[in-house]
Amino acid sequence: MGNKLMPREAWGSRLGLILAMAGNAVGLGNFLRFPVQAVQNGGGAFIFPYLICFLLMGIPLLFIEWSSGRYGGKFNNHSTPYIMDGMGNSKVWKYVGVFGIFTNIAVVAYYTYIESWSLVYILHSVVGTFKGLSQAEVAVFFNDYVGELSSYTWFPFETVFFYVLVLSLNIYILSKGLGGIEKVAKIGMPLLILFGVILAFRGLTLGESGKSDLFPDANAWDGLNFLWTPQFDSLTNPKVWLAAAGQIFFTLSVGMGTIQCYAAFIKANEDIALNAVSAGFMNEFVEVVLGSSIVIPIAAGYLGLDWVLKNAGFGMAFQTMPFLFQQWGETAAAFAGVLWFGLLFFAGITSSLAMGTPWMSFMKDEFGWGRNKGAWSFGMLALTMGLPTVLLYQFGVFDEYDYWAGTVSLVIFALLESVLFSWVFGIDKGWNEINEGSDIKIPQVYKFIIKYVTPLLLLFVFIGALISPYQNEWAENISSIMNGGNWVLDNSSIIKNISNFGLKEQFLLAHTDKEKSFIQDKIFYINMARLLLVGLFGFICSLVYLSNQKRLKEGKKGHE
Ligand code: TRP
Repeated sequence: MGNKLMPREAWGSRLGLILAMAGNAVGLGNFLRFPVQAVQNGGGAFIFPYLICFLLMGIPLLFIEWSSGRYGGKFNNHSTPYIMDGMGNSKVWKYVGVFGIFTNIAVVAYYTYIESWSLVYILHSVVGTFKGLSQAEVAVFFNDYVGELSSYTWFPFETVFFYVLVLSLNIYILSKGLGGIEKVAKIGMPLLILFGVILAFRGLTLGESGKSDLFPDANAWDGLNFLWTPQFDSLTNPKVWLAAAGQIFFTLSVGMGTIQCYAAFIKANEDIALNAVSAGFMNEFVEVVLGSSIVIPIAAGYLGLDWVLKNAGFGMAFQTMPFLFQQWGETAAAFAGVLWFGLLFFAGITSSLAMGTPWMSFMKDEFGWGRNKGAWSFGMLALTMGLPTVLLYQFGVFDEYDYWAGTVSLVIFALLESVLFSWVFGIDKGWNEINEGSDIKIPQVYKFIIKYVTPLLLLFVFIGALISPYQNEWAENISSIMNGGNWVLDNSSIIKNISNFGLKEQFLLAHTDKEKSFIQDKIFYINMARLLLVGLFGFICSLVYLSNQKRLKEGKKGHE
């Protein structure tokens, strides 16, 4: 089954392509991550940095990735190692391209775990598990499910079962090739938008009707006002900019290698400029309009804005929403639960499918692996990486993956690829690639932005994350340096993170032996998680090395 005998795989239709690309971008990030980031970074103060990052980094990176992908596809390269190899003149680029496979496998490991929660919560909403539970009990239900309440000997059969089930579903769909992904996107995306609109309508019309004796000040409008009253004071705060940039990356799926892979299956003369913009704006609509009209206003409508500000976190979706839905009566609660968790499930699966494609395409291009073999091997890698996140959730393995693979890698990879595109491949050639076959005319300023602004911003973002100062007080630290003082790193800076500084500090401050041993375990498991991540990266590097040897033997052009 060599690839020479098979017709080249391609997307079935333009609509299918756009929906698949939008499905790739629209994910859990839009509904779980965005509202939390917005709240934690000052609501209306977040929105400007966010939109500016969208225009100056998001859109340019979309252009870069769509065009690099289509360009690679012309030479039958469908994953970043050889897409990038073909654009640069050095042997290192194919190893840089390893990021574009690595990130996906590491992220899919914990991403499908959240997907499995969504599925389980759909079922529990239908059978009425949350009926009559207090808010605390709903929260405990979640903590119990992910094993935050139990000791080492615990083996969570239900949790693992649903995780494996969801992973298998992904593998099954992936084994059907691009057609399978397209079909899921064509069904999932419209449903997701429909569910989202219904829930957003509820969020927008709730008003003060959710007030209670316990929360007399509750008002959904407070949540919306908080998010949408623009504030300019944060424009000078690098912490907010970093958060905004991070969110743009995650939500648009840039810096991950999936867009390049999808774009490699586009026919050579098909429009990419318009497609990239359409898929990008569709994602922003879902994120900014739907994503901000559900969790925050509904939570504020029942619990008040103060509660939301104090408790904003990723858990809200699973720990709080099912309880709030109960206030609507039994049937409506079941219905709302299905809509909300169904929406999360569709958002999740169209993204996790995308994460499978870089690995599968790489193995097919280089080693002739068919869809089944590709999909199953991907599943096995995801399971190996994923089981630790499931079983060791309480030790922070999940967060560790999200930090390194879901945040830091994206920035590093995006920085390198934008340098490759504008400065090695060359912006003139690149600009032609972007515009070739395009139905719209991209404003000329974007050529300038792609060449200078985007890489510089990416560099700032990276350095900013590397050396974030203590408590993110940039102004104070800069003036301290100017006056011959020290730069004090924050525990959240990449540098202090690597050395587990924060945890070691916690250890010293811990009071009981139990606390101390928990922190010690945590440090151990976090280091193991890192070892796994590095191992995965090394493993993919070695495959790239082997494939290159193979290419050289077969006389294919490559950069040794
Ligand atoms: N954009 C998706 C979201 O908003 C996440 C995502 C899609 C992703 N593809 C990815 C993350 C590849 C990492 C790697 O949820």
